[in-house]
Amino acid sequence: MNIIDNNIYVIFGASGDLTKRKLVPALYSLFVQNQLPENFVLLGVSRSEFGDKEFRRIMKSSINEFMEINDGTMIDDFVNKLFYKTINFNEIDSYKNLKEKIIELRTNHKINGNTIFYLSTPPSLYGIIPQNLAAVGLNSQDDGWKRIIIEKPFGYDLKTALILKDQLLKDWTEEQIFRIDHYLGKETVQNLLVTRFANGIFEPLWNRNYINHIEITSAESIGVEKRGGYYESSGALRDMVQNHLLQVVGLIAMESPSSLEPIAIRNEILKVFQSFHPIQKEDIKNIAIRGQYLASKIKGAHIPGYREEEGVKPESVTETYAALKFYIDNWRWGGVPFYIRAGKRLPTRVTEVVIHFKPTPHVLFSKNAVWQSGNQLVIRIQPDEGILLKFGMKTPGTGFDVQNVNMDFHYSDLSNQRIPSAYERLLHDIMKGDATLFARTEEVLEAWKFLAPVIDCWKNDKDVPLYGYPAGTWGPDNADVLIEGKTMTWRYPCKNLSDDGLYCEL
Ligand code: BG6
Repeated sequence: MNIIDNNIYVIFGASGDLTKRKLVPALYSLFVQNQLPENFVLLGVSRSEFGDKEFRRIMKSSINEFMEINDGTMIDDFVNKLFYKTINFNEIDSYKNLKEKIIELRTNHKINGNTIFYLSTPPSLYGIIPQNLAAVGLNSQDDGWKRIIIEKPFGYDLKTALILKDQLLKDWTEEQIFRIDHYLGKETVQNLLVTRFANGIFEPLWNRNYINHIEITSAESIGVEKRGGYYESSGALRDMVQNHLLQVVGLIAMESPSSLEPIAIRNEILKVFQSFHPIQKEDIKNIAIRGQYLASKIKGAHIPGYREEEGVKPESVTETYAALKFYIDNWRWGGVPFYIRAGKRLPTRVTEVVIHFKPTPHVLFSKNAVWQSGNQLVIRIQPDEGILLKFGMKTPGTGFDVQNVNMDFHYSDLSNQRIPSAYERLLHDIMKGDATLFARTEEVLEAWKFLAPVIDCWKNDKDVPLYGYPAGTWGPDNADVLIEGKTMTWRYPCKNLSDDGLYCEL
């Protein structure tokens, strides 16, 4: 049964890339699956001067290009629900006109006041749009709910995140604000909760007594593409670690929630963030490594270095790779190191969590060096979503040689079940008013607070090296020093190196 209230979905920045590639195709998927309410209208809003007809034409071709569901038969029905309004984001009169348009659509389509305002705009507009909407009364919930959606970055650092918080909370309540972190919309990220709390076998081992360390990798083989301008003001730490990867840490490290209520889950994630061991300035050189990709040749083709990319300064010191070691100060995790790395232009695209269990207390089968007696549970977030358990088995034959074997579950084995995209899930949750998979103000602030010493140091301390790494390699060698120990290394989830040793595919 479709339990979503009828509503108007207003997208600011409707002529932008995110709307075309992700938002409208995701809403179309929901439409095909009958998961949109009967009375539903999407109103695109942006500076570009065009009318409903042109907007529908553009969205129709975006759906054809980016649709995630294998059914194009309902595109015409869907685009008939799309409307467009040109706006000047800074002028209050524009918002008065917008309000009139919304009221007209509500009347014509029998929709009450329920409205979503999705800000798919540059973050510089996150202050002004909510303020102007409120100035014309579009935040009032007297005639139905109003929700405002923003995409990361939620500020540039702790100071700007606090300013954004004040701007938003001046006219809107925390319950009305949905901060999208698309990692939380990924099926396998949500599955972290199910793996941990629906199975009795993992939880007893999920603590400092049995876990040696935890490794989280987000590798991308692409560079910054056309986003050099944005990336220059971001870098890997802000772009991936502050939000996506710390959210993954939250789900890996949290205590069992008392229920599946959003508040119960978000409280547990917040507690993890509040327990991060504060990073000391003098330790930064040893616990944080930054790198930037250099030009190289991959499969014979020239790959530009970061400084050669469009929109990037030739002397840029923005990091395209960040690795971090840190601790969580609580009863469960005291003393267990967490290692995170994120980078662009690495050999492959993979996001995974590796739980490294402690070795057996007594080494009985020491002869065979192939087996290092620490089991690993690898949770593959993407691609090839699944879970892999690595353990030791007796090699058949005389003696007691031990070899590594894998128990490997692939989501693709559930062949009849489609994995919905992150946006499909999140856009649906917004309509339902389910805030579980959205970042709360306190989480965002805690994440900035935790990383602030590293951000400051990388900005101001010229003595902290920025290591170069050739595009297509696993980042600076110095990141290996971070994950110390003779037997410990990062996991390199890559099988086939190309002839030049620089490129691999899973
Ligand atoms: C975005 C970052 O939030 O996440 C991008 O801004 C990055 O730089 C992307 O490429 C990665 O997302 P995914 O879903 O491809 O892992």
